[in-house]
Amino acid sequence: MRPLIVIGNWKLNGSLASNESWVKAVCKGMEQGMPAGRMFALCAPFPYLSQCEQLIKECSLAFLSLGAQDVSAHNSGAFTGEVSAAMLKELGCKYVIVGHSERRQMHQETDELVSAKALQALDAGLTPIICVGESADERNSGRETEVVCGQIARQVSVLQDRLADCLIAYEPIWAIGTGKVASAQVAQDMHKAIRLQLAEFNEDVASHVGILYGGSVKPDNAVELFAMPDIDGGLIGGASLNPQDFLAICQA
Ligand code: 13P
Repeated sequence: MRPLIVIGNWKLNGSLASNESWVKAVCKGMEQGMPAGRMFALCAPFPYLSQCEQLIKECSLAFLSLGAQDVSAHNSGAFTGEVSAAMLKELGCKYVIVGHSERRQMHQETDELVSAKALQALDAGLTPIICVGESADERNSGRETEVVCGQIARQVSVLQDRLADCLIAYEPIWAIGTGKVASAQVAQDMHKAIRLQLAEFNEDVASHVGILYGGSVKPDNAVELFAMPDIDGGLIGGASLNPQDFLAICQA
């Protein structure tokens, strides 16, 4: 059985004061009881990782952990501005997002770079959350499965069996921050296509890997999405900024 995993991606948001009240509110809500067997995390901006790690430690809930939003494809050296996987591990991270569509689009990240980042994360003992997803144009021209399965195939070719230690996030670009959530069936169909694609490589990997959905997940659509057989949780952007909305999604 794959656990349900809900991860908040704060993106470029937060402050020392708002982070503190967020973590305290979420811990308080979670202490009142969460459905068993679920895991939760927040992916904070780099400068706040230490602060969030400390706050999470104080509430000591085994099922709440920390993640980062990106990682370098290099482990050390002359790479100004980069942050290595070992540094994230040292700061208490369990997860790191790689290949988010915002980085693919705004920083020209390729599948090759994304798999190099995932390998760095795996080598440091982090779980990479590998994002894939099609644009509106690609879906409107009927190429969504080809595009997403192509992204998956390029990860398989590099990561091979190590994909079993990754999470995949299907985030259709047209659903991110737009309020246009993929219907539960549309999301399920793509998650199933991803799992079938992985099964062609290795059935064990396919049945183990968690596939999260991301894109306008809100408290009122999370129940239906998470009920789908191939949807193993969510990667939550906007709604993760509000602790009460995040809690409601975690409980969905
Ligand atoms: P929204 O939930 O704001 O649509 O963002 C999704 C996302 O990009 C999470 O990584």
